[in-house]
Amino acid sequence: MKIAFYGVRPEEESYLKERFSSAMAATGASAAYSAERDLLKAADPDADAVCVFIDSLVDKAAMDAFPKLKLVVTRSTGYDHIDVGEAAARGIVVSSVPSYGENTVAEFAFGLILALSRKIYAAADQVKETGSFAMDGLRGFDLLGKTIGVVGTGRIGRHAIRMAGGFGMKVVAYDPSPDEKAAAGSGFRYAGMDELLAASDVVTLHVPLTKETEHMMNAAALAKMKPSALLINTSRGGIVDTGALVQALAAKTIAGAGLDVLEEEGAIKDEAAFLASGHPKEEELKAVLADHALMKMPNVIVTPHVAFNTDEALRRILSTTVDDIKAWAEGAPINTVRAS
Ligand code: NAI
Repeated sequence: MKIAFYGVRPEEESYLKERFSSAMAATGASAAYSAERDLLKAADPDADAVCVFIDSLVDKAAMDAFPKLKLVVTRSTGYDHIDVGEAAARGIVVSSVPSYGENTVAEFAFGLILALSRKIYAAADQVKETGSFAMDGLRGFDLLGKTIGVVGTGRIGRHAIRMAGGFGMKVVAYDPSPDEKAAAGSGFRYAGMDELLAASDVVTLHVPLTKETEHMMNAAALAKMKPSALLINTSRGGIVDTGALVQALAAKTIAGAGLDVLEEEGAIKDEAAFLASGHPKEEELKAVLADHALMKMPNVIVTPHVAFNTDEALRRILSTTVDDIKAWAEGAPINTVRAS
């Protein structure tokens, strides 16, 4: 049995090797570790399982390149980079890391909120770049008493709600599967999406990327937000229509955005490879252009999909990843995901 790991960063490799060799010793499984993210560039026809991160596309073509493939494990919570339906049709098991410390992402969302609401990035950048201690243009606003709209009240959303309470914010939430009991116990209320958008000073997104959530923050939704409001996205880039966001920010119909995720962030990571990849679609090119416009805007903070990236979370992710592989090798897969 062979497991091929892709997109492995140096800080992951030593931990993975150690955990894998102790957990999998009894199975006699072997492992190969590669920094390559593109499965087609480094396909291993002997691999029974592949282990990837979010920037490896596991589609039909990738599956074709692994004739023995029986398991795909992703070192992430989101699995929208895997064609789960195609995997199911081929009898390939897909496992993810459903939970590794949702506080980690929620803490980062608040980092983005504070960076914008108190202009921390702008202030620090001014001091570093110019040495100036002038306060002009650096006045922010209090979170105390403001309303935060939490879209998606799953694991991460709940932590965001808890943290908002610490700041003395009012919380309004939207989720198609509301948990009224949790709302009553944690002092927040559910509302419709339109009401949430109209009432919130900060809107923070904590939903998976699905056909239903793709571009849920489109021009119409953005137009319902307050002109003074901030949009925070630490979920997936595709949930926001990037072109519409650029227009809303340029027209000042919203005040700012904190984005840990971008549509086509994979293309931004390696633009040369993106351009060389054949024929990029028009909408992909438009999204990349919009991403660049966002990165230049002073009222926008873009980070490179690092909300999950703490020492503690990384160890938990890798530990669950090896557990996923071990459980599958022992014939009882865990943390499996299916097409929604
Ligand atoms: P979860 O599955 O616990 O919660 C998601 C919630 O979204 C559920 O309550 C679900 O009912 C709700 N939801 C589904 N469709 C919705 C819709 N149309 N409108 C409003 N709510 C909807 O997921 P969790 O752990 O909270 O993670 C959320 C997402 O965060 C992940 O799917 C992943 O894409 C992203 N993420 C990003 C990370 C980063 O580093 N930036 C790290 C980890 C996760």
